[in-house]
Amino acid sequence: MTVSAHGGRVKTGPAMRDLGIIRDAGVLCRDGKISWVGPMSSWDGGLPPDFSELDATGMVVLPGFVDSHTHMMFAGSREGEFALRAEGANYQQIAEQGGGILSTVRHVRAATKKELKRSTARFLTEMLRHGTTAAEIKTGYGLDMDSEVKMLEAIHELRDEEISTIVPTFIGAHAVPPEFRGDLQGYVDLVCTQMIPYAGRRHLASFCDVFCESGYFGLQEAERILLEGKRWGMAPKIHAEELTPLGGAELAARVGAVSADHLENVSDRGIAALRDAQVVAVLLPGVSFFLNHGYAPARRLIDAGVPVAIASDFNPGSCMSYAMPLMLTIACTHMRVTPEEALTAATLNAAAALGLSATLGSVEVGKQADLIVADVADYRTIAYHFGTNHVRRTIKNGTLLEL
Ligand code: NIG
Ligand code: FE
Repeated sequence: MTVSAHGGRVKTGPAMRDLGIIRDAGVLCRDGKISWVGPMSSWDGGLPPDFSELDATGMVVLPGFVDSHTHMMFAGSREGEFALRAEGANYQQIAEQGGGILSTVRHVRAATKKELKRSTARFLTEMLRHGTTAAEIKTGYGLDMDSEVKMLEAIHELRDEEISTIVPTFIGAHAVPPEFRGDLQGYVDLVCTQMIPYAGRRHLASFCDVFCESGYFGLQEAERILLEGKRWGMAPKIHAEELTPLGGAELAARVGAVSADHLENVSDRGIAALRDAQVVAVLLPGVSFFLNHGYAPARRLIDAGVPVAIASDFNPGSCMSYAMPLMLTIACTHMRVTPEEALTAATLNAAAALGLSATLGSVEVGKQADLIVADVADYRTIAYHFGTNHVRRTIKNGTLLEL
């Protein structure tokens, strides 16, 4: 399964169903990159002397999953909230009572950089086992200068130390911390005048994100933060229309965001704006499933020609799972996304949501050799047979991993 984009940045509309399947295929990796891919019958037989071979007969080889939206660096856990929701409480009520994001903030502030790195590294290894070879990691559980810097530095160090491709996103505007309660502007000032310049000057983040939501950051605050981030070299991303339709999708288009994420409550105007600006819509099926709050209109987004990606949003509050195959299952069963569209959304279009689709997200000559071997006879089984891990081998930069 190549998901070949034929040189394109993303796939939209009917092209999302074209997975570029090659039967009885072979792939040659060299110096970490893909140097040949095609049907074995067209192979000329020439091989470097020291090559090693991996036989995947009867299985499906596909690009590594790209998880373009995660909050996977955290401390503590929130199973208490999970239990409260089972008894009828919802995400906002729990947040208003001091739970939610702020409860994780308390744990992250108390954690050392080393502790944050250790738990995140463990998750990254687990994710490789489940086929995720590239992941975004957001800050946003520090919410003061020292703790946001601690997260940024931890992510930065993991980039050098870990096998996975890691993309750092700064989201100081994830919630208003307790010390700024009732002073939204004061906190936005801190984000814009101290945190963003610090991260920008040291090149600590590729993206700047904001939780644009009532009770968190409104449209005006979000616009100011995203433009300030952009000025400091961080491309805009936005948590938009998750719980209430505020117009975050239109804002994403206006500020030239690379992606607009969530979109459970996006309006028709929002969809048109995303299509016109070709902003990647990152859908998070696991959140709707876990919080039981309704799904993004994936069908309408795809049919309108918006490039759609699927990510996990892995975090302790709204989706305690990094399993990309599960996200595909939920997209197919609850969002009327076809298995083909879902696979494109989790590979090529996901890479585009991180601005990396020139090097990641498909099996094409010249791209990074990030591949997974799934022990299934039909690619649809990856989403169809859920709750089990079909990934047998993970190859990162041409290296077969021992996980
Ligand atoms: O993407 N929506 C905001 N942020 C996360 C939730 C983070 C949390 O609850 O800890 C999300 O769903
Ligand atoms: Fe999120």
